[in-house]
This record gives sequence, C-alpha cells and structure tokens, in this order.
Amino acid sequence: MKHEFFEKNSLALLIGILIVVSIGGLVEIAPLFFLGSTIEKVQGMRPYSPLELAGRNIYIREGCYNCHSQMIRSLRDEVERYGHYSLAAESMYDHPFQWGSKRTGPDLARVGGKYSDAWHVDHMKEPREVVPGSVMPGYPFLAARKLDAENIARDMKALQLAGVPYTEEMIEKASADLHAQVAPDSKQAKEVVQRYPKAQVRKFDGSPDTAATELDALIAYLQMLGTLVDFTTFDASGPNLR
Ligand code: HEC
Repeated sequence: MKHEFFEKNSLALLIGILIVVSIGGLVEIAPLFFLGSTIEKVQGMRPYSPLELAGRNIYIREGCYNCHSQMIRSLRDEVERYGHYSLAAESMYDHPFQWGSKRTGPDLARVGGKYSDAWHVDHMKEPREVVPGSVMPGYPFLAARKLDAENIARDMKALQLAGVPYTEEMIEKASADLHAQVAPDSKQAKEVVQRYPKAQVRKFDGSPDTAATELDALIAYLQMLGTLVDFTTFDASGPNLR
C-alpha cells in the first residue's frame, strides 16, 4: 500500500495536500494573469448619465436589491422570460454591482422599455394598483422628494477612481446634465445625449413641475436598464465585440 506512508505521517500528508491543492490553484489562477481582460468589451456600454446614476443611488438606498436581481443567467427559462443572458460587460461600470441574490420580485436587468413611465409612476406609488396581489412595498414619497444633485459630481469622481471612464467634462457638467435630462426643451438636452448615447431625455414622473424628483431619477434608471447593448445585432461568438 503506497498511501500507507501518508496515512502514518501527518506532516507528509499535509505537505502532500498542499502540493496537490496548489497545482489545482495554479491551473485555475495562472491563466488569468495572461489575459488582457476577463471582461469582453461590448459595443454600446457607457457609464451612467448623472440622472441615471442618481436613480441607481436611490435604488441602493431603498434596498431594492433585497428583492430584485439584475443578472439573467444563461438558463433557458430565464432567457425566455427576461431576454438575452447578462454579459459581464453590462455591469462593468457598476460599483457595487447589483446582481443581487434574491428574487422576491422579477429580475430587472432588462426592465428598460418594458413598461411606460406612467406604469412605473403608479407602480412605485402603490404596486397593488397595477399588479393586484403584489407584495412589493410602495414608495409614494419618492415623487414628493426633490432630487438632491449636490453630490453627483463627487459620486462620478469616486467612480472615476474606481475605473469608470468619466471624463473631466462629464464631471464638470454633471449637475447641469442631470437637470437637462428631465428638460427635453433645454439647450443642454442635446449635449446629454451626445455625452451619454441612448440617454432618454424627458420628464419621467409625469409631474408638470420641472424640477427633478427622486422618482424621475429612479424611473430614468429603470428605463435604461438593459437598453444599451443592441441584442438584435449582438453575436456572443465574437464579431460584434470590440
Ligand atoms: C419586498 C420585496 C420588494 C422590494 C423591496 C422591491 N420590490 Fe419591486 N417587485 C417585487 C415583486 C414581488 C414584484 C412583482 C409584482 C409587481 O410587479 O409588483 C416587483 C416588481 C417590480 C417591477 C416590475 C418588474 C417586471 O418586470 O414586471 C419593478 C420595475 C420593480 N419591482 C422595481 C422596484 C424598485 C425600483 C424597488 C426599490 C425602490 C423595488 N422594486 C423594491 C418585490 C419587491
């Protein structure tokens, strides 16, 4: 019995285990050091606009991730229900990511464009008004709260440090861009779309008051989720990757 030696010498067994485990570790870890990136670049991804980012902050503040995931797995039932499985690149500007671990409610990774703004307004105020039997809490106060845009430039600066490619111009114009995204008639509205392609510019909360509310920001965020990458032309085998 060759293994009798190891069974009778615990130190030799320990060293043997270490050698075998480190071979396994090397095989898994070493290749990562030779890859340029573990995240494939995908056309269409861009950092969040200031308004979307403010909405994302509210999403995190209110703990929406406790009930909602933002990661469609490559399983048939999920792809049929929610759309194309999530790509790593789709959350590369998320710090922290919002994949979540619990689905009391549906996955939200591609909820953008699924409903009208008016639906979201009603749903956020009182979910049972539009989905009878929903167990989601209402967030009626969001419509009444003015969006605090004071710190958005600083948030973007912090994200820039974490590697999100915000330019100095984006940071400088952050507050103005945030307000312009809810004011389609403003001069700066065009600039918002130039800086943030596919950004949706309109008043999201349906209120005639022109000031941005927290509900505007949250709906702007929800309506952009999953809309940046064009999956009608995306080919996971490569040609569409940059
Ligand atoms: C207690 C768990 C819970 C929390 C917290 C919660 N939700 Fe939900 N959510 C649900 C459930 C359950 C549904 C499905 C029923 C419905 O549509 O109301 C849902 C549905 C939704 C939908 C519609 C999704 C679809 O594809 O039909 C959206 C959008 C949404 N939630 C956004 C939010 C946001 C934003 C927050 C945080 C402000 C939030 N939810 C917090 C449980 C929750």
